[in-house]
Amino acid sequence: MPFLEIKNIKTHFKKKRGGLFSRTFDTVKAVDGVSIAIEKGEILGLVGESGCGKSTLSRTIMQLITPTQGEVILENENLTSLNAEQVRQRRLDFQMIFQDPYASLNPRMTVWSTLKEALTTRHGELNHEELEKAVITLMERVGLDHKFMRKYPHEFSGGQRQRIAIARALAPEPKLIIADEPVSALDVSIQSQILNLLKDLVNDLGLTMLFISHDLSVVRYIADRIAVMYYGKIVETGEAESLMENPQHQYTKELLESVPKVLSTD
Ligand SMILES: Nc1ncnc2c1ncn2[C@@H]1O[C@H](COP(=O)(O)OP(=O)(O)O)[C@@H](O)[C@H]1O
Ligand SMILES: [Mg+2]
Repeated sequence: MPFLEIKNIKTHFKKKRGGLFSRTFDTVKAVDGVSIAIEKGEILGLVGESGCGKSTLSRTIMQLITPTQGEVILENENLTSLNAEQVRQRRLDFQMIFQDPYASLNPRMTVWSTLKEALTTRHGELNHEELEKAVITLMERVGLDHKFMRKYPHEFSGGQRQRIAIARALAPEPKLIIADEPVSALDVSIQSQILNLLKDLVNDLGLTMLFISHDLSVVRYIADRIAVMYYGKIVETGEAESLMENPQHQYTKELLESVPKVLSTD
């Protein structure tokens, strides 16, 4: 039984055609029949060009959007059949990391407040001293000096801010991390540091990760398996190495040809 199983998910949006009072709609088939399985401890890379439906799929898995059709099964539990309160509880088990940590972090909250708040979602019983200890542990875990816990997001570099966002995602002790373009806003020189950190965290903490990027060179660097998405559908899935060496689908071949050889894999 896979850790996370996505069964024939369709997420369609209705979009008004024409003017304000128009009654006709176009259907945007953002996700159109996706089935994927992720094993425990695995990093599945989801790659595809901008607009192909990656973020919509991740939001559907998180139950932030109700799918038009299909099921999301996490550890044998059908998330699509839960009520709002059950989803809220279960959501602590899966956390997201986004492209732009500056937008996802509250600019008025110090690292301390941000992490304290994230820790309390699961561990409301911790006292001040225990919280401080946990914040220090989290900061060190993501490679930040805990001396900086009273600082605000704008006082950090882009890479450090993403480390704060990663620490916040780890705070509720999730089982699954969905990282949606987590290095796309970072300098190339910083990207591999953050990718290595994510890889280490998955290994050390026994996490499972869905790693999303439009950039195949980034995905190949971190993923065990890769799923290629094209216009709302998965066109190819395979072990990262074999998919890179022997792509089957024409679109995967095109993606491969456009990959700049920037990140080395060692
Ligand atoms: N809330 C929404 N309403 C209507 N269309 C949407 C909505 N969210 C996304 N879309 C459309 O769905 C498609 C997939 O978008 P998205 O999932 O953001 O792709 P990606 O993350 O791969 O860039 C796009 O055509 C986008 O415009
Ligand atoms: Mg996206």
